[in-house]
Amino acid sequence: MHTDLHETARALVAEGKGILAADESTSTIKKRFDSIGLESTEEARRAYRDLLFTTPGVEDYISGVILYDETIRQSALDGTPFPKLLASKGVIPGIKVDLGAKPLAFSEGETITEGLDGLRERLKEYYELGARFAKWRGVYSITDSLPSEYCEWTNAHALARYAVLCQEAGIVPIVEPEVLMDGTHTVERAYHVTSRVLNALYTELFDQRIDIEGTLLKPNMVLSGYDASQRASIDEVAEWSLRCYYKHVPAAVPGIVFLSGGQSDEDATAHLNAINKRGPHPWQLSFSYGRALQAAAINAWGGKPENVEAAQRAYYHRAKMNSAARTGTYAPELEREALVA
Ligand code: 13P
Repeated sequence: MHTDLHETARALVAEGKGILAADESTSTIKKRFDSIGLESTEEARRAYRDLLFTTPGVEDYISGVILYDETIRQSALDGTPFPKLLASKGVIPGIKVDLGAKPLAFSEGETITEGLDGLRERLKEYYELGARFAKWRGVYSITDSLPSEYCEWTNAHALARYAVLCQEAGIVPIVEPEVLMDGTHTVERAYHVTSRVLNALYTELFDQRIDIEGTLLKPNMVLSGYDASQRASIDEVAEWSLRCYYKHVPAAVPGIVFLSGGQSDEDATAHLNAINKRGPHPWQLSFSYGRALQAAAINAWGGKPENVEAAQRAYYHRAKMNSAARTGTYAPELEREALVA
């Protein structure tokens, strides 16, 4: 077993630091650019990632960045390949390797994540390009009758197949089972579904001989549905989430790095803060946010070169707020710093 896997996993959840998910597929980044009225060309995507990766000082709060296949092959304006640029700042390059969630046969409304065929060869190339960790996302929807056990176990099996292939290649797998929070379900229902999903995931990981200390878990927080009539409070979210992970996530997992999943920027930070405030916990509890680290930056940028610095300030600020949330020292008053900056 690669012991450097353990080291990489621990470095990704180093004190005060978390991960930037900048691995939006071409179709997802197009949606983000549509929201600011910007055409999604390869150069626009490069310029946007350049802005994020060259933000001065953000490496104090960011341990790793998840890239997309196109992005890992792109370079900064001075010609430095992005993975090399990140590594030079002590930021670990990562790569999304799944090929997306596709309809699950004979189960309407559910998906199975694809991308296992040829994965061993792709991982070898990504390692050569500088990637030292990877991500694979399984997706589960909550309705009165979903997710099915079929969806839970097939996605868990695929996540575990991916994870051990990563470890064989010297790459730390982030396993991401995302229970979507769209709908009207209660926080209690989200707790039960997330519990079942995690139970299936860890059963498959151990069956497939995972080196558990060389992995990270990227789960959803346990929230009530976004359209629920009564939404759980910040404290309730922290309590239900922790209850769920304490039951289902082995203490040998070095870190839990949350996805933001469509929460507002400040909710994602406040929830992480409340969870850490209840520590110490057996694992590091950190972030691997996409939208909640980038939304303010992309809006400030608007695709205009003259706004690059404002966008970098917005990204830096969110990274700093989430870093504070890692130690339970975040307070909404700190948000004002961004306004005076
Ligand atoms: P969000 O934080 O925007 O949910 O994205 C994280 C991610 O990587 C989803 O796969």
